[in-house]
Amino acid sequence: MEMATSAIGLPFTPEIALSTRALYERVSHVVPEIEWAVHAPYVDAINRLKRQKNAVILAHNYMTPEIFHCVADFVGDSLQLAREAARTDAKLIVQAGVHFMAETSKILSPDKTVLIPDLRAGCSLAASITGADVRLLKEKYPGLPVVTYVNTSAEVKAESDVCCTSSNAVAVVEDIARERGVDTVIMIPDEYLAANVAKQTPVKIISWKGRCEVHERFSATDIRGYREANPRVVVLAHPECPPEVVAEADFAGSTSAMISYVGKKRPARVVLVTECSMSDNVAVEFPEVDFVRPCNLCPHMKRITLPGILHSLETMTHEVTVDPAIASRARAAVERMLALKTGPQRAAA
Ligand code: 13P
Ligand code: SF4
Repeated sequence: MEMATSAIGLPFTPEIALSTRALYERVSHVVPEIEWAVHAPYVDAINRLKRQKNAVILAHNYMTPEIFHCVADFVGDSLQLAREAARTDAKLIVQAGVHFMAETSKILSPDKTVLIPDLRAGCSLAASITGADVRLLKEKYPGLPVVTYVNTSAEVKAESDVCCTSSNAVAVVEDIARERGVDTVIMIPDEYLAANVAKQTPVKIISWKGRCEVHERFSATDIRGYREANPRVVVLAHPECPPEVVAEADFAGSTSAMISYVGKKRPARVVLVTECSMSDNVAVEFPEVDFVRPCNLCPHMKRITLPGILHSLETMTHEVTVDPAIASRARAAVERMLALKTGPQRAAA
């Protein structure tokens, strides 16, 4: 590989080229060589500093491939990252994901330092509802349990009976309805996830008007268009998509459930109806699969970059804190979810 110095940022030296060669070989299918000259010095610096500080980097499946494959210690969907945050011995966690994920890590590990590289990494679902909204819902529907998607603030989780992710939502809804002896639950804040779950359970669901700004943009017409342009393509959709999109898909599930599907079935051609980095990350594992790549970017996930992660480790910013009284109530809801043994789950298709 020809040596270069990145126009801005850290220099790409021959030593760095050598020490990062194996990592580049891993991602060369999806990261152009010219970009590696920019990424490699950060990858090298982050991996050194991370070892020095005994930190772990927890990265969501929507991180870009140079983060996902080259600096992350653990990768996964929201449920897997929450489990890892609870399990890790490391005293320092850097969350390569959005703010609610970092808060979840802090809730589960109050004694650990949790850093997020960019405080602006939010989520349209988390922004759609407040703790006061949940209190009003509980007043309106007394006695009904509140099932809360993890894509929410700690304050909202604290008002909830149990949390769920897209990986375990049906099981969580059925478990709490059975335990409370009710036929209806409140499920917040994603109206599409709630509608997709409602198709798979006799439990009635009262939902909220939140939406994921990435998945709400896909339409059933889009899916039919992908099929027309790509005969025999297998369509996998995230359950935050509108129900009519999920109905057109061959399979719907969490980000990790989609990855498992590709790994098990090895479709010749696939489209992942979700955030853009997913296809790149999965293509590294399965280079023989042809990924059709219409996708939508999550601007919040894309706030997390290699320079941001390095800066975060160097300066120990931005530390995520949660009021201990809120954290202990939120923890009960998250731990109740984690206690339920579920794997990646299929949503309605
Ligand atoms: P997963 O739990 O499926 O990874 O979803 C998280 C998310 O933010 C999807 O938009
Ligand atoms: Fe939130 Fe959607 Fe971005 Fe996930 S993809 S973090 S749900 S806005």
